Order: sequence, then C-alpha cells, then structure tokens
Amino acid sequence: MRPVVAEPGKRIAVFGAGYVGLVTGACFAELGHDVVVRDVDTAKIGVLQAGDVPIFEPGLDEVLDQNRERLRFTSDVAEAVEAAEFVYVAVGTPPTYSGDADLSAVWTVVDELPRLDHRIVVVMKSTVPVGTGDKVRHRLDGRGLADVGYASNPEFTAEGTALRDFMHPDRIVVGSFDDGDGDAVAALHSGIDAPVVHCDVASAEMIKLAANAALMTRISFINEIANVCEATGADVVSVAEGVGLDRRIGPKFLRAGIGFGGSCFPKDSLALKQLAANSGYHFQLLNAVIEVNELQKRRVLAKLERHLGTLRGKTVALLGLAFKPNTDDMREAPSLVLAGRLLSEGATVRAWDPVAHAHDLRGVMQVDSVEEALAGADAAVLVTEWPQLGEVDWAKIAGTMTTPVLIDGRNMLEPAAMLAAGFRYEAIGRAASGNAGG
Ligand code: UDX
Repeated sequence: MRPVVAEPGKRIAVFGAGYVGLVTGACFAELGHDVVVRDVDTAKIGVLQAGDVPIFEPGLDEVLDQNRERLRFTSDVAEAVEAAEFVYVAVGTPPTYSGDADLSAVWTVVDELPRLDHRIVVVMKSTVPVGTGDKVRHRLDGRGLADVGYASNPEFTAEGTALRDFMHPDRIVVGSFDDGDGDAVAALHSGIDAPVVHCDVASAEMIKLAANAALMTRISFINEIANVCEATGADVVSVAEGVGLDRRIGPKFLRAGIGFGGSCFPKDSLALKQLAANSGYHFQLLNAVIEVNELQKRRVLAKLERHLGTLRGKTVALLGLAFKPNTDDMREAPSLVLAGRLLSEGATVRAWDPVAHAHDLRGVMQVDSVEEALAGADAAVLVTEWPQLGEVDWAKIAGTMTTPVLIDGRNMLEPAAMLAAGFRYEAIGRAASGNAGG
C-alpha cells in the first residue's frame, strides 16, 4: 500500500450515465473535482441537464443537486474530454449470447477518444474480463495514443447504497501499468478514508470478478443450507446467525432467499465462468453457484403447488418486483423467472412494487397497493423485502384472500406472527414453523 497524496480538484470525464457512471460522477464532484458526464443517450442527457435524475438511487438527486457547479452533462465526446485529465469508462458490459462480456461500448469509447494536446489517463470502472486492460493498451498504442495512460479502478457499490459505498468503501482498488498513473487515480479519492490496493491491471480486473463470485458463493451456500434445513427441520435464520458469528466467516451475505439477481452478479458470474472456460479451465464451483441460484428461484413453484395443487386458474400475487429493495432495477430479478413460470403454469399473476415497473413482464397485472394485490388471491409470494411490507396489517388482509397462503421468499416476516394472523405461511429454510399450515 502506498500513501494517498491529496490533490486539488481534477477534471474528470465519465463515459456512461447509468447507475455506475452517475454515482461515480456525483461522488467525484462531491470530493471537489470538476466532472463532465457523457452518454450517447441524448434523452437521458436532456433529463440530467434539466436537473432530473433518470434512475432511482437513494440520495443521488441530492448529491447531484449540491454539486451542480462542478457537474455537466453532454452527449458530445469532444466537449467531455477537451479539458479532462481522467476519462472514466462506466459503460455497460452485458453478456453476449456466448456468456462472454460484450465490450462493444468500451471499444466505442476507446476508438472515439480524440488526440489531445495534454495527457489523459483512461480509467476502467466498468466490470470487464481479465485481460481487457492489455487489449485497450494495445488498441490505444495502435491509434498512436501511447501517451494516454490506463488504469483499472473497479467499483464495489451496491445499488440502493451506492453513494455510501463509494464514499465509505472497504477498499479502493487501483491497477495500473505505470505507478504514476496508479498514484494519480488513487489521489482522486483523497478525502475518502479507506485502504488502497495498488496492483497490476489484470489483478485489479480479477479482484472485482473474484469479490462478486465470493459473495454469490456465500448466497448459494446459505440457500443450499436452507434447503437442507427444510428437509431436516432446522431453521436457516438461526443457523446463519450461529455460523456468521464465527469471525472467520462473518455475518454478511448469509441471508437465504429465492436467489440473487441484479445488474452485476448474474452477468459477472457468467463472464467469469466464460473467461475461465475460454482459457481451458472448468470452474466447477462457480458453475454450481449459478445452477443453485437458478433452481432456487424455481423452488417457490413447488411450495405453491403443495398448498394449492395445480396452479392453473389460480391467482398469485407477487409482493415486490425489483431484484432487491431500494431500487427500481429489474435486471435479472428473480420476479422475472417466477412470473414467467407462474404464467406458463396457467396462473394469473398480479404484482405490487413501490418503484419498479413490470414493463418486461408481459401478462402480469401491476397494482398500486399490497391490499389490491392480495384481495381474492389464492396465494402471495414475498419476492422483494421492501420495508413497506413490514408495515402491512397482515391479520386484516388475510381475510381478503381466497386462500391465505404466503410464501416469504426473503424470510422477512415473523413466522409465529404470520401464523397468528391466519396465514398458511412458509419461508425459505424455516421448516419448523413454516410448514405448519401446509
Ligand atoms: C452487487 C455487489 O454487492 C457490488 O459490490 C457490486 O459492485 C455489484 O453487485 P448489487 O447487485 O447492487 O451489488 O446488490 P447486492 O446488495 O449485493 O445484492 C445482490 C443480490 O443478492 C440481490 O438479489 C439480493 O437480494 C441477493 N442477496 C444478497 C441474497 O439473496 N442474500 C444475501 O445475503 C445478500
């Protein structure tokens, strides 16, 4: 670890105005830098220029607002980079059909960079396969831009807490080909109290993929423990508590449920699996983690069938659609698989979510309240642990359902209270209390 040297405000261009780009831009402005955020989507840039925020991320609107004088938005590449010292790349890297990451948006940024009369450092924030930095370096050199620096500075921000995660991270990772560039990128973060890991570019790229893989492994692990708990009568919530208090293991990411989703985990697990396979290595553990997650989303169907028999003609309410609370993000949300499976079994599906929209869920009726979702329903599945669901008068609502079956996919509610409220309540890995009504 090298010490971070404080520097006055720098000029940073951020390419990509998605979750990662906007949070990165807003936080760098908050740290005192001058930031220009550039996106190809002119409509999105228009929204930002008008002072609105095109995504739902708690606190982002305030930070953008408070730093207006240090933040600009544009769709013009030349305008974004003309004065920039650092060009952050925060564009999407979705999976291709083969499972490899689609780097076309990254290449577009690299190819669009104009020749400038001052030195810039390109900093990769997007999650990319190991080896991408090397390829970018070659491409820049091939364009005669050998003087352009390159560094990898992966993000570890979770949606819903992205601003806090950026400003109070566990660590800052900077991989570079040149120590001076690495130090300069680290210095952009001065004001943030966190250890800085300096390493080579490939290792920085791998740190991001490995950290995500470790978190996903914990989730699939606890989900499998939950499934064994169901078969054996143990309670996974108590088990996770008892296991997590071991300091070598720790309590985080041991919440059993209906599987992980989101913009990162599913995509990055595929990318790492494919990266390994492309290099001739069969990553068995990661394959299992992915498969367990797929099966976990589908286990809810068997639970519903145990209570309702066939699902054909039954009405099932989904409580929550977003892949987790405090976001409107539906990318790879378990609700998508669940709704698809229910519809194909012939069920009618109603959904409630306070912010996410069921645009991608053809055939699903979205309603405005939990009460509306449950009235006359044959069963409900708690899909996203929105805090609002902790405020519901369950005893009152149970009587409005045709059959008061509730599958708690996030182990959010108190089993004893739900049984007392009149529900046939089942959770994930909580066989002792949950199956009593079945
Ligand atoms: C994640 C990583 O946390 C972040 O570091 C990375 O940069 C991007 O991917 P995010 O996808 O926003 O962030 O959400 P996170 O809070 O990590 O949750 C991911 C998924 O795992 C959600 O679907 C969540 O419900 C699920 N999850 C999480 C569990 O099922 N159990 C847990 O114990 C924790």
